[in-house]
Amino acid sequence: MEAIDVIIAKRDGGELTDEQIGWVVDAYTRGAVAEEQMAALSMAIVWRGMTRAETSAWTRAMLDSGERLDFTGLDRPTTDKHSTGGVGDKITLPLTPAVAACGAAVPQLSGRGLGHTGGTLDKLESIPGWRADLTPEGMRRQLGDVGGVVCAAGSGLAPADRKLYALRDVTGTVESIPLIAASIMSKKLAEGTASLVLDVKVGSGAFMKDIASARELAETMVAIGTDHGVRTRALLTAMDTPLGRRVGNALEVAEAVEVLSGGGPSDVVELTVELGREMLRAAGLQDARDPAEALRDGSAMDSWRRMIAAQGGDPDAPPPVAAEQRDILAPATGTLTRLDAYAVGVAAWRLGAGRARKEDPVSAGAGIELHAAPGEEIRAGRPLFTLHTDDPARLEHAAEVLAHAFAIDGPEDRLPLVIDRIG
Ligand code: URA
Repeated sequence: MEAIDVIIAKRDGGELTDEQIGWVVDAYTRGAVAEEQMAALSMAIVWRGMTRAETSAWTRAMLDSGERLDFTGLDRPTTDKHSTGGVGDKITLPLTPAVAACGAAVPQLSGRGLGHTGGTLDKLESIPGWRADLTPEGMRRQLGDVGGVVCAAGSGLAPADRKLYALRDVTGTVESIPLIAASIMSKKLAEGTASLVLDVKVGSGAFMKDIASARELAETMVAIGTDHGVRTRALLTAMDTPLGRRVGNALEVAEAVEVLSGGGPSDVVELTVELGREMLRAAGLQDARDPAEALRDGSAMDSWRRMIAAQGGDPDAPPPVAAEQRDILAPATGTLTRLDAYAVGVAAWRLGAGRARKEDPVSAGAGIELHAAPGEEIRAGRPLFTLHTDDPARLEHAAEVLAHAFAIDGPEDRLPLVIDRIG
């Protein structure tokens, strides 16, 4: 087979066969198809799209490029959640122990943040001593003992995706729903979960800015999961405004701990409970305890403490605090009608909570406290935001970004927290 024939077939709008897809992905991963040929094929896919059969075959080829973890044989069913990423999205932190406390095993492979969205591993790494790297045997042991594990994906999982994503990133070919869906699902299927709930975010702070494209992505991923024998559902959820009241690594861990203590902001609690219920249903545990009860009665907190300690973390250690704090005051009295997720994410990133390049470090203590959410009353001269940073030179830029991030007494057109369910 020749790469040029596969490229021309897709350029001309043809449907690629399973053999063509399996061959081209494998040959590219081995270095037998050149970067420029894969770039041309990716661009042809951006323009021409892929059918459900092609997208499933593409996912399988990426999955087959590496190892697949196997958690069969545990005494409880496995289930996981994947979020397409947002601002203040710390839901994995209370959700994993809550679902574990309700009887499922949650093997969650997570990533680090890039750009304006945070990464779950960066958040957990703000806990002194906590380690992200576990072997598959270590994951299995922790799933058996504690029921939940959040750790880094090893380099052996879907290596084709790692290579292809780096190429797509520099060739303007990320924006293809079949390629995005196959990329995400190849990594999720490789982690060996029997069921999966996707949290597909919609809004300014999300990858998908409008409901129609988020729905298309969700439907494509649910179809891929189903084609690969994994019970998959998706929720479309709001990311027009940040989740919760804190954005930044240690700040978000502290908010997650509030939720695990039975308190915390209502949107974080509601989404944790909704996703937890979906995960338990997808795992076939319809009669399990309700995750809301696990948050209230302390059992989710107990699982959290054991999960953190099992990976070397000290759940009682005081969280790192940034060297500098500055309040930004509300300029007027009225109702906060808009708080833009993307702008808040960019401001937190500028303060040091996120990274611009994969190899950059992040600050554990940097971020933003939000003193009001849309719909709430604010008063002139009272703090609207508190900025946290280790580098005072960053405060000005973050403050400028936030100056355009909100509106008082403007038109209200917020998205509902849970917009739709698919699958
Ligand atoms: N996230 C991924 O993992 N892959 C993509 O292609 C886009 C976002």
